Amino acid sequence: MKTLFVRAFLLSLLILLLAGPDWALATAQSRPVPNPQLASRDVDVRVEALLKEMTLEEKVGQLVQFSAGYATGPGASNLRYDELVGKGQLGSMLNVVGAEATNHYQHIAMEKSRLHIPIIFGLDVIHGHRTTFPIPLAIAASWDPDAAKLVAHTSAVEARADGVPWVFSPMVDIARDPRWGRIVESNGEDPYLGSAMARAWVNGFQQGDLSRPDSVAVSVKHFAAYGAAIAGRDYNATDMSEITLRQVYLEPYHAAVEAGAATMMSSFNSINGIPASANPLTLTQILRKEWGFDGFVVSDWGAVSELLNHSIGADGATVARKALEAGVDMDMEGNLYGTTIAGQVRSGKIPEGVVDEAVRRILRVKYALGLFDHPYTAQGPAYEATPERRALARKVADETMVLLKNDPVEGVGSLLPLTSKTKKVALIGPMADNAAEMLGAWSGQSNPKDVITLKAELARRLGDRLLYAEGCGLLSGEDANVLKHVSFTGPTGADEHLPVPDDAKTIAEAVATAQNADIAIVALGEPTNWMEGEASSRVHLGFTGSQEKLLEAVAATGKPVVLVVLAGRPLVLKWAGAHVPAILEAWSPGIEAGPALADVLFGDVNPSGKLPASLPRAVGQEPLYYAQLPTGRPAHGDLSHMPRNSEEKFLSRYMDEENSALFPFGWGLSYTRFRYAQPTVSRAEVPVGEILAEHKPVTMVGVDVTNTGSVAGTEVVQLYIRNTVASVEQPVRELKGFTRVTLAPGETKHVEFPLGFDELSFYNVEIRRTVEPTTYTIWVGGSSLATAGTSFKVVE
Ligand code: NOJ
Repeated sequence: MKTLFVRAFLLSLLILLLAGPDWALATAQSRPVPNPQLASRDVDVRVEALLKEMTLEEKVGQLVQFSAGYATGPGASNLRYDELVGKGQLGSMLNVVGAEATNHYQHIAMEKSRLHIPIIFGLDVIHGHRTTFPIPLAIAASWDPDAAKLVAHTSAVEARADGVPWVFSPMVDIARDPRWGRIVESNGEDPYLGSAMARAWVNGFQQGDLSRPDSVAVSVKHFAAYGAAIAGRDYNATDMSEITLRQVYLEPYHAAVEAGAATMMSSFNSINGIPASANPLTLTQILRKEWGFDGFVVSDWGAVSELLNHSIGADGATVARKALEAGVDMDMEGNLYGTTIAGQVRSGKIPEGVVDEAVRRILRVKYALGLFDHPYTAQGPAYEATPERRALARKVADETMVLLKNDPVEGVGSLLPLTSKTKKVALIGPMADNAAEMLGAWSGQSNPKDVITLKAELARRLGDRLLYAEGCGLLSGEDANVLKHVSFTGPTGADEHLPVPDDAKTIAEAVATAQNADIAIVALGEPTNWMEGEASSRVHLGFTGSQEKLLEAVAATGKPVVLVVLAGRPLVLKWAGAHVPAILEAWSPGIEAGPALADVLFGDVNPSGKLPASLPRAVGQEPLYYAQLPTGRPAHGDLSHMPRNSEEKFLSRYMDEENSALFPFGWGLSYTRFRYAQPTVSRAEVPVGEILAEHKPVTMVGVDVTNTGSVAGTEVVQLYIRNTVASVEQPVRELKGFTRVTLAPGETKHVEFPLGFDELSFYNVEIRRTVEPTTYTIWVGGSSLATAGTSFKVVE
């Protein structure tokens, strides 16, 4: 053993000498910092003392997690949980909610088990616990990390009161393909925006101190690159270069770890042929060694046993060993750690030290959360959506609405905001009065009764000036036929989504309703339970059922139409984009759906949301994202060195559709207009050595933004850069800064963004983050189409 250490030491010394000063630099750049939320001498002493007392079976018990409540995955085990807990063989449970249910198991753990080690209860708390806020993709559309932080904190308070000190959240997977149903839980396509949101969610949940009664530990998921499932098919393999993995997909997880994330969840997918739940590169090398993560890793549901399907081992014992040794500390519902690890330690296949280390990591989090000292949850009053919680839910939803289009209509002007001149409003569509649908995917503990629908709110505001027709159902008979084979019905059941038996009749009624009004608001989308979230990939990204038919029929009346889109993913809005003058992307807005929608429709709130993911013209463009790598034959002259004639055939483009998004990343209109002055840089040239030596801003990009319209508004000012010449191709544009600025009519504000190593660096072929001499093109504006530009040079 000793010689091994000596050899390893000499080898590192040799690498150091050969690599020279650059190596030292790279190491200094990524030196991990211990997480102050987990590292404490007192905790370490208690953990070590307890570990000494534990039998091998009790140690392994800490690595086991089962769901004793509802199932959020296939093949839930049905074991004798009371008995396992009593024997100290079940350290964690999921989907057990509420003081009564959690206390039941906790009493057994604390009073009957030999060492009185508390259970850590985990739950999916994705966009609110009891109070349901907009879906995460919508919150990302606010480009307001503080909003995410407040949502996370409110959720933490409610979850804790329900006996849940650990949430399987935030989901920080980069999602560039809306065929993947889980884009709904994500922050969209961009690593910079995704990282800002990841930090905010972690800080909001954990409050920088896990022992506080209003904080919960997070489990950042799904590590790693789960969002890059090939063809957008859930659970599918991912395959990408290590540079893309690190520079795009891993960034938000890293941000979350730096923010102090206490735990991570390993994902279902494989990454370049190695399953993520047994992947030494991501779980050990990157997560622990490079990032210094000192919390624990829980597998996703059954991800350890599914390693058998991934075919990296012929039996349960082998795959369990691979997962544990790669760095998965806890087995969620796989039922393999509990049954195979102890035996393999006894036979010498697994060193006991590996088990000890996993146990240490888990116990550390349990101590940090204060579970040993305060294991139980007091039975509180029944949940109530109080006015304060409603106000927050509404404010957040207000910020998430993205005004995609608001073209003037002849003789009427812009349809939005609605004015008092609008006499009769026809509200049409299966989303207009559908409470359950407003909650969105992963709203497990929510209650549709808390939802105020758009119809309810418009009826309150307009009285008998409101006319209403549902128009059609969310599903067609054909959809229903396909879906009847799917056994999972979701928390609210599926009955409300069954197709309306005679769509032709209901569409005719809706047309008549529109004809009797001055304007039609058509609220359409896709059904949450069936079509969004986990295991809900789609190949057709249009409105489901007969909704498009309904929209076309209402538009054909000639009445001005405002389309409100309620969906958890970017849908293809091509027909609407060409024929409907006003479109509002409203996602799944949560319990205050109606009031927040009305705020924006009536102009009480000026919309400020911006798309966190590109909206395609056609499904065939997917994966579609703005930060593409250049090609040798670009279709758009503006981002190439060699502008080409657009008549040229041999270009990287489609023959039957444009390359660009219908509505691009960062896009979102306002009821006012913003003017951007020419941006400036405080230093136009900086030596590369200075950037590499100090990880500080080296130049400031400044810009004046003016509200040139007649109403106050908030603009999300976005900074994009392009590294024009590098040893490894860099994207044609990358977001590297953003901020929300509120401006009164006529007001100008100066906005500044720092640029330094963090924003300018990229991975070179040696997989080292670096900066090279080059010129960066810089754009500042209100979307990824920003044109106001300048440049900045990195010199030798
Ligand atoms: C499976 C999902 O992928 C994950 O997001 C979730 O946290 C677990 N099930 C637990 O419900």
